Amino acid sequence: MLYVITGGAGFVGSNLAERLLSEGHSVRVIDDLSRPGGKVIENLEYLRQKFDSKVKSKEFEFEKKSVANFNDIKSSIKGADVIYHLAAQTAVTTSIKNPAKDFSTNAIGSFNVLEAARQAADNATLLYTSTNKVYGNLPNVAISEKQTRYEFSDARYKEGIAEDFPVDPESPYGCSKYAADAYFVDYQRTYGSKTIVFRCSCMYGEMQKSLEDQGWVSWFVNRILGGKKITVFGDGKQIRDILHIKDVVEAVMKATDKINSTNGHVFNIGGGKENSISLLELIKFVGKETGKKPVYEFADWRLADQKVYISDTGKAKKTFGWQPEISKAEGIRRQILWESSK
Ligand SMILES: NC(=O)c1ccc[n+]([C@@H]2O[C@H](COP(=O)([O-])OP(=O)(O)OC[C@H]3O[C@@H](n4cnc5c(N)ncnc54)[C@H](O)[C@@H]3O)[C@@H](O)[C@H]2O)c1
Repeated sequence: MLYVITGGAGFVGSNLAERLLSEGHSVRVIDDLSRPGGKVIENLEYLRQKFDSKVKSKEFEFEKKSVANFNDIKSSIKGADVIYHLAAQTAVTTSIKNPAKDFSTNAIGSFNVLEAARQAADNATLLYTSTNKVYGNLPNVAISEKQTRYEFSDARYKEGIAEDFPVDPESPYGCSKYAADAYFVDYQRTYGSKTIVFRCSCMYGEMQKSLEDQGWVSWFVNRILGGKKITVFGDGKQIRDILHIKDVVEAVMKATDKINSTNGHVFNIGGGKENSISLLELIKFVGKETGKKPVYEFADWRLADQKVYISDTGKAKKTFGWQPEISKAEGIRRQILWESSK
């Protein structure tokens, strides 16, 4: 089996590549290494060393290419059995500063991958990682404010946000990711492509190269361990349902295996209500676990920052038998270990 992973040098992609290579599959990573900070190259080095591969071996290939270039992508995905399309500009803040670049990578780049697959790998299974940001700021969902967190107070959402919630993306990132999300679903209807869409919430874990703008769990852990100040945008009571990368990889594998049931479907993939945590709660937990005193200050809310987002993962459980297994406490402890070992 040949697996092609676009954005495969990044956080999710390199974890997926590690799992696939461990299972003896051939993996071709396509990445333009444009992630800000430039550190994703370390993930490729790690994979190369672990699997003892040269840059161009049969099992593990790396091609430095951009999904924004249709012809490049078409030649790279030829013959693929499975394509995981993860390449993206991933920060909301960056999308607001440079919406054209965001659109080119996330909307046009994703269209290129889909269309190239239709032309050059028409039997491949394609999985696209969309985002909870397609639901926007959930303005009509009642929330209540508690001491350390916001909560949904509308009983309809006691399990979180399900896939039938109206889409209303805010921010260029939300829009560009949703454009691709819609194309992936429609290519199944129109052309019979085999597509799966995951609307992911906050993922964290090993090999994440966090920045202040993206990858907040890893960023906070890193700052606290280093005794550095954290800027909390807003009041810190924002809630996210964090999902550990091992659970993400498991979800991807299971959904791919069950393509007959998952084909053409959208799934909300997150930690669910049990793994919901606010920024303030995370800071406190990490301080306690590490014995360090977190230093933080508050700044204005960021645009398009949801006060509460929790995924209802019931459809994923029902359709392909997946649910998160790693609790937030265990996952954060693993994150602390990993960040400490760098
Ligand atoms: N990490 C999260 O919490 C989260 C949440 C929701 C959705 N997602 C989505 O999941 C996917 C993977 O996220 P991640 O956390 O691994 O991000 P990441 O930034 O670590 O990885 C993305 C990779 O894509 C590459 N890339 C960017 N533009 C490219 C281009 N034009 N051509 C080829 N490669 C390009 C980057 O260099 C990077 O290695 C993204 O599509 C993202 O939008 C992530």
